[in-house]
Amino acid sequence: QEDIFKNVVSHAKEYGFIFPSSEIYDGLSAVYDYAQNGVELKKNIREYWWKAMVQMHENIVGLDAAILMHPTTWKASGHVDAFNDPLIDNKDSKKRYRADVLIEDYAEKLNLKAKKEIEKARERFGAAFDEEQYKTTNPRVMEYLAKEREILERMGRSLGNGDLEDVKKLIDELEIADPETGSRNWTDVKQFNLMFGTKLGASAENAMDLYLRPETAQGIFVNFLNVQKTGRMKIPFGIAQTGKAFRNEIVARQFIFRMREFEQMEMQFFVKPGEEMKWYEYWKQTRLNWHLSLGLGKENYRFHDHEKLAHYANAAADIEFNFPFGFKELEGIHSRTDFDLKAHEQYSGKKLQYFDNETNSNYVPYVVETSVGLDRMFLAVFATALKEETLEDGSTRTVLRLPSVLAPTKAAVLPLVKKDGLPEISKKIIEDLKWDFNVAYDEKDAVGRRYRRQDALGTPFCITVDHQTLEDETVTIRHRDTMAQDRVKISELKTIIGNEVAM
Ligand code: GAP
Repeated sequence: QEDIFKNVVSHAKEYGFIFPSSEIYDGLSAVYDYAQNGVELKKNIREYWWKAMVQMHENIVGLDAAILMHPTTWKASGHVDAFNDPLIDNKDSKKRYRADVLIEDYAEKLNLKAKKEIEKARERFGAAFDEEQYKTTNPRVMEYLAKEREILERMGRSLGNGDLEDVKKLIDELEIADPETGSRNWTDVKQFNLMFGTKLGASAENAMDLYLRPETAQGIFVNFLNVQKTGRMKIPFGIAQTGKAFRNEIVARQFIFRMREFEQMEMQFFVKPGEEMKWYEYWKQTRLNWHLSLGLGKENYRFHDHEKLAHYANAAADIEFNFPFGFKELEGIHSRTDFDLKAHEQYSGKKLQYFDNETNSNYVPYVVETSVGLDRMFLAVFATALKEETLEDGSTRTVLRLPSVLAPTKAAVLPLVKKDGLPEISKKIIEDLKWDFNVAYDEKDAVGRRYRRQDALGTPFCITVDHQTLEDETVTIRHRDTMAQDRVKISELKTIIGNEVAM
């Protein structure tokens, strides 16, 4: 799996999807740039989401709120006081770690030990081996697994209660050491706020402390009444938004899975109090269906219902995806009650209430939120699509089996040779297609190599112009996934491509 992940990262770089930020200065940790093909794929995912959420729902409208917001926003939302990660410093190495990650890594090591035992036994017993039976009868394996469960449960409780002393105790009891130096000389566990601070104003005395938003959601909450009134929205209704969010993540690994600057696609759905569970279930299913519509495989998704809830929620679930490093959160669906709107009422002194014509009364709506990371979607799609295939003739090819609707380039037009008027015809075809699709032209190298390059970029169609084209206005159209080739009329191309790539 580690190899698969390495391939994903290097393919993203080599084929112009993702570069490390400011690479000439050795990059900036957990910050990435989307390159010429990445920006197209990312844009298509965003549009696919926007279409499903805004265009297809009469009662959902869009918003593009500013990244900078009045600082009281973050007091009201709870981010100033509670948006923290537990941190621990190693006094010897001066390195800084997230305490919960250190403990989780330790638990994972135990799990790995259990796995190794099981593998050894499997080799010993061969076909007769029954893993479940072995686990229940083998005390050592059971011990590893039980200890792991116990650690994680205790850590979850201590973090949930803000009991950092117990987190520290756990680190001491388990004799956890600095993963890099082996030293165990730690400071106490401290809370570290994840928001990036910045300043508004020219002179140091008058400057106002601001934050870069850590979620897009608050821009929607503070605009709730503006949108409701000007759009004459009737509850239930939703406001959708995509945009950048910033978190000073302590542990930044796994490529674009956890970044310091990332993009969210969020929708806040305002409902009548008491109806939130119905809508929560509706959005859980609707969002899962959206993911499934991309065809990455049903088995790659699962729900994780939260037992431990954030202070603002009365129900929460993640849609987890099977990334190359295992099942991890891709999207969150949260029933946020009236927590945010009430908090903003309190801090701003302005009423944020809905007037219900039917009952002739005012109320603060409840909110069901769907929140998916655009970069995580990108990683899910990209990593699942990337395949090394062995062909019938024994040769191999790298192919990016992206859903056609998301592919950066929909078709590449390739003249078989660089003469006899074939480039000119190719360019004429492009002139015609480019109004509807992103198309590319390539005349370099043998045509077989050009096919391979487009396969690696995820282009669903290659259109080859050859000498027969001069005679009958037909071309070869090659399909990325099957590699099948058909002879079709130039005039049919738009329909063939359109049928496959339409959102
Ligand atoms: N408004 C709710 C909210 O922000 P969250 O679970 O903190 O909830 C929602 O974030 C989604 O944003 C996550 O499911 C994930 O896809 C994405 N996300 C969060 N932190 C991220 C990070 N550091 N890098 C990339 N994506 C992130």
